[in-house]
Amino acid sequence: MNQPTHSNHPTDLRTPVSGHAHAVVGLQWGDEGKGKIIDLLAPNYHAVVRYNGGANAGHSVQVAGKRFALHLLPSGILHPGALAVIANGVVVDPFALIKELDALTAQGIDTSGLILSDRAHLVLPYHQTQDALREQLLSDNPTGNAIGTTKRGIGPAYAEKAHRSAAIRAGDLLRPEILRERLQHACRFHNTLHDLDPTAAPHDPNAILDSLHSVTQRLAPHIADTTYLLHQLLRENKNILFEGANATLLDIDHGTFPFVTSSSTTALGIPAGAGVPGKYINDILGIAKAYSTRVGAGPFPTELHDHIGNSIRERGREYGTTTGRPRRCGWLDLVALRYAVMLNAVDAISIMLLDVLSGLPQLKVCTAYEIRGRRTDRFLPDASDLAHATPIYETLPGFSEDLTTARTPDQLPANARAYLDRISDYIGAPIRFVSVGPDRAQTITMQ
Ligand code: IMP
Repeated sequence: MNQPTHSNHPTDLRTPVSGHAHAVVGLQWGDEGKGKIIDLLAPNYHAVVRYNGGANAGHSVQVAGKRFALHLLPSGILHPGALAVIANGVVVDPFALIKELDALTAQGIDTSGLILSDRAHLVLPYHQTQDALREQLLSDNPTGNAIGTTKRGIGPAYAEKAHRSAAIRAGDLLRPEILRERLQHACRFHNTLHDLDPTAAPHDPNAILDSLHSVTQRLAPHIADTTYLLHQLLRENKNILFEGANATLLDIDHGTFPFVTSSSTTALGIPAGAGVPGKYINDILGIAKAYSTRVGAGPFPTELHDHIGNSIRERGREYGTTTGRPRRCGWLDLVALRYAVMLNAVDAISIMLLDVLSGLPQLKVCTAYEIRGRRTDRFLPDASDLAHATPIYETLPGFSEDLTTARTPDQLPANARAYLDRISDYIGAPIRFVSVGPDRAQTITMQ
């Protein structure tokens, strides 16, 4: 295997940081098209770094007509020479990671640039069992308050990390004694859940240990201390791109709790999730669709249950990359978007899938909510409050032209430009890119 091309010299921590650290984050409920933009930007960076989430994320990237679906690997893996770093804040299903590596290798992609943090926690089969079981119990409940998770074991793996005693990190794959001991503890704890589902076979630590054997052999050369690595790159004047997974409104602290994922999905998650302080991050690009979508349960004030929602779903191919579930679709919620811009300290945004709105006679954007008779332009990051929000819309004229061949701002119809101007004006951030199709070439640079 080719070793990734970073220097192995010890870092002199007196050297000032001169490399740039930039970030790309999703501003809505996920699936905004971050993968495409990261893929576009990746050639400018020495490393592309995932800092949160796990195989619940689904980034699809289309390169030269070929579509790649990435879940755990940073989108930078598609660029030879760039390091693809999975930092400590990610929860890693090692079996899913191997599957993804194999699929890319079969498509002719060189995956030798992968570096996996020794401190990244592992998602193991008992986490997925627990995820599915909790969701089942919640949906059996008459109040039906299941989260609608991806069942990838994300929540249980982060809970295990918080519990500590039976948590297993990637570095433990290289410490057989510790691995065995922790697996025994973990299986003992998780098998107690069998009282809830007596039909499920108990988890056997020896069987998991056996199955981890070949995984360890494959992953061992990629496991490293990624915190020192990232600091070293920045001191060597090399640039880093952080790739947010999931998205702002799914953030465990700042999203529509409890209908959120289990990690810090915003740029606020980078310092803890990768060990790189916020003061080194000097550009944050937020990604938003020209409309809104959501997968799974939870409030969604601008959701459309009519033919417009269906047409957006079909035209935008709004079906989950990870689970294949149809996504809920609705108008653009500017209240939510401005909140996400504030939280992430976004420098500029990218508007994705603008072409999907072509043909709609009118476009609506939500500029305020009415809640229990009161009007507000603040987002409500709590599901029980947000569930009572009625959107107040502003209506803009639609456009009927096909946008998919536009390559410069002046090739966009006047009504499409007016729609973009209204977004930028409301959220107080400039628009840097507009995407009008899945291919790299279908991207307009606005400024
Ligand atoms: P979990 O992350 O699998 O626990 O799922 C929690 C919620 O986040 C569910 O509503 C999922 O559908 C949603 N979710 C998690 N990751 C993504 C993503 O990358 N895109 C869209 N929704 C996501």
